[in-house]
Amino acid sequence: MSQPVVICRGVKKQFGNGGGAVQALRGIDVEINQGELFMLVGPSGCGKTTLISVIAGIINQTEGECRVLGESVSGMSSGDKAKFRARNLGFVFQAFNLLPALTAAENVALPLFILGESKKAAVTKAYDLLAQVGLKDRGKSLPAELSGGQQQRVAIARALIHEPKIIVCDEPTSAIDHVTGANVLEMMRTLSKDHGTTLIIVTHDNRIFPYADRMGEMDDGHIMAIHTPETTQGRHYA
Ligand SMILES: Nc1ncnc2c1ncn2[C@@H]1O[C@H](COP(=O)(O)OP(=O)(O)OP(=O)(O)O)[C@@H](O)[C@H]1O
Ligand SMILES: [Mg+2]
Repeated sequence: MSQPVVICRGVKKQFGNGGGAVQALRGIDVEINQGELFMLVGPSGCGKTTLISVIAGIINQTEGECRVLGESVSGMSSGDKAKFRARNLGFVFQAFNLLPALTAAENVALPLFILGESKKAAVTKAYDLLAQVGLKDRGKSLPAELSGGQQQRVAIARALIHEPKIIVCDEPTSAIDHVTGANVLEMMRTLSKDHGTTLIIVTHDNRIFPYADRMGEMDDGHIMAIHTPETTQGRHYA
């Protein structure tokens, strides 16, 4: 049995105070293992983005504990958090968060620049990744010159380039066609199997459900059930 790389215990998140307060997470207990592809599904507003943002150390929980690779990220200083994220995590956000003034290749290379790799080596590797997501010829394009689906693939390449231990994705295939989506998932799965990378993927896209090792079904700030292919044979996960 592999080691858990994410352990959430009693994680609650409240946004705002008083009458306008929103309980986005109401007590999350979950362990995600090394090398597993864990999907999170559930209706809009149920807390999926909030949960992966806590796991990635982008926001702090209000209560409870979340340990990532053995560390309690919410307890770190913001500088340590940034270093921890740069070294260990890759992200694909719902909004792809590409830097508009950088080319596609530079955007992909960014995690390596941050880790101090030379520009030449980083950009060479970026072109390699761009080729893998079907964008070999678009390295010099600015994000504004790319379609939504192409921007999404740039964001996916950027999440993979520094071979992080954990990759967190929010709707990674929402803007790309079925064949490209399947290719991207295949690529992520290969990475995960070859390097022991853990993938945490929020999705509504039932076409990629079959790639999951386990699937957490969320509703109203809770994980209601965790499904495995064995327990869901013959039915859709959500
Ligand atoms: N920064 C914020 N300030 C206030 N409320 C927030 C904030 N971020 C999220 N929320 C609220 O927390 C709840 C959970 O939001 P979250 O973004 O996690 O949902 P989600 O499951 O990712 O939904 P979707 O599928 O639409 O992306 C929602 O009610 C949302 O309005
Ligand atoms: Mg969301």
